[in-house]
Amino acid sequence: MSIQVLSEELASQIAAGEVVERPASVVKELLENAIDAGASRISIRVEDAGKKKIEVSDDGTGIPIDELPLAVSRHATSKINTAEDLFHIRTLGFRGEALASIGSVSRLMVLSRNADSQVGARIMVEGGRIVSKEMTGSVTGTIVRVSDLFYNTPARLKFLKRDVTERQQIDTLVSRYAMAYAGKAIHLEHDGKAVLRTSGNGERREVLAQLYGIELARQLLEVVFEEEGMKIEGYISPISISRSNRKDMTFFINGRWVQDVTLVSALFKAYQTYLMVGRYPLSILFIEIPPEAVDVNVHPAKAEVRFREPDRVFTAVQRAAKRALMAYAPIPQLAAASWSSQAWNPSPELDGTGMNARPMQPQSTGQPQPMAETPSSSSVEPAPFAAGIPLLRLVGQIGATYLVAEGPDGLYLIDQHAAHERVLYEKMQRQKENIPTQPLLEPLLIQLPPQSAQIICDNLQVLRKIGFHLEEFGRNSFRLSAIPALFTQKDPRAAINSVVEDF
Ligand SMILES: Nc1ncnc2c1ncn2[C@@H]1O[C@H](COP(=O)(O)OP(=O)(O)OP(=O)(O)O)[C@@H](O)[C@H]1O
Ligand SMILES: [Mg+2]
Repeated sequence: MSIQVLSEELASQIAAGEVVERPASVVKELLENAIDAGASRISIRVEDAGKKKIEVSDDGTGIPIDELPLAVSRHATSKINTAEDLFHIRTLGFRGEALASIGSVSRLMVLSRNADSQVGARIMVEGGRIVSKEMTGSVTGTIVRVSDLFYNTPARLKFLKRDVTERQQIDTLVSRYAMAYAGKAIHLEHDGKAVLRTSGNGERREVLAQLYGIELARQLLEVVFEEEGMKIEGYISPISISRSNRKDMTFFINGRWVQDVTLVSALFKAYQTYLMVGRYPLSILFIEIPPEAVDVNVHPAKAEVRFREPDRVFTAVQRAAKRALMAYAPIPQLAAASWSSQAWNPSPELDGTGMNARPMQPQSTGQPQPMAETPSSSSVEPAPFAAGIPLLRLVGQIGATYLVAEGPDGLYLIDQHAAHERVLYEKMQRQKENIPTQPLLEPLLIQLPPQSAQIICDNLQVLRKIGFHLEEFGRNSFRLSAIPALFTQKDPRAAINSVVEDF
């Protein structure tokens, strides 16, 4: 095929592909525009996981009537002017292409009234072409409505994930911005149902409580750090709270949510040795650095950045997190006394697992004890994790964390916590279809972040099957009335949270 210049329509659809990957990208661009416009109230309405409609309204500065056509044109922006400006970006947008991109793959309506004007105007764009523009009465601010996203790029539509996933992406995004901009009242609803509503009073912990539940929000450690022009604020999890993936490690640079390996590894490093393998911290950190020290013009989606001095940023994040960890949750020093080879006191952790059997007591001269096969005092079932482990003789316990045992081939250190998890796991495996439940004396109200709440809603039947009796109880809230009998001594909220993670 000979070389040909692409039609304007096709060229702009290609360009749009980089900015508008999915409904959540549209929400991100519109939300960022509202923030740049200095809005204090932002409302987001989504229908059909964003495929049918995404509408964002704000009470920001609005767009002057004669600039409306420019706002929806490519390479038109009010945020930068010269190449030099690119290195001092203080706004979230600067490329002047988001609305144009969105308009080329949807039916777009922008209704806006600038504060200096008596009336507003409405402009409609379809597949990249302005189809109408008219004056209209409206309040100061802007409403952007995106309908039938990807109606003219069916291939893109096919690539979208299940509605639940697309909705979750939106929820996660809006939740993060709600935390970053706690001073703005942000409201999100899906198909007429509110999933997030922040008051805008500036209290980040209040937003955190809505997202992660009051209990977890209370436990998060506050980070306050300032060094050589770099400021880091926010929250990180104490070492007792962790996640099975890095999805909850959130970073904002100068008010912009970014995904960056330097930041992730710096934070992870701060937790090194404190977390079990495969566990990750939870964070929401807001980093302020001089705009000239970070290049945000790396990718059209603006979620990646390049630092002028990555090492400095790495060190600062690591130090900030470490300081918070040490200040709030000092790592207990092992006192000499905790190296006990004397009386072994089964920790409550091990109760009822079949591991707290008497024969685990240290034997100074006895034969190796069949640690895994001895019946417990409360149950005659064999303890389940015998496979692959030889007969062991218990020597003692270290710091209420490890069991020390002697086996035919040497010394064994057993992580009590991990062993306990394994015991519970195997017990549950054996109960399979018929998991006994234990009704709670008082039903428990559990508040979850919107994205987790959605997961729970979609899996209520599965949860019931494994013994959690939950029912919806208001926005993102659930009433828990029974739990698997195995968990009676456990914190049901923590159990629900880890189940959500696994889903
Ligand atoms: N909600 C809004 N309130 C006020 N002005 C807006 C709003 N949304 C868009 N605008 C105006 O329209 C212009 C174009 O918006 P658009 O999102 O396409 O580009 P941008 O924000 O300048 O850059 P980027 O492509 O990086 O987002 C903006 O520069 C701004 O002047
Ligand atoms: Mg923009």
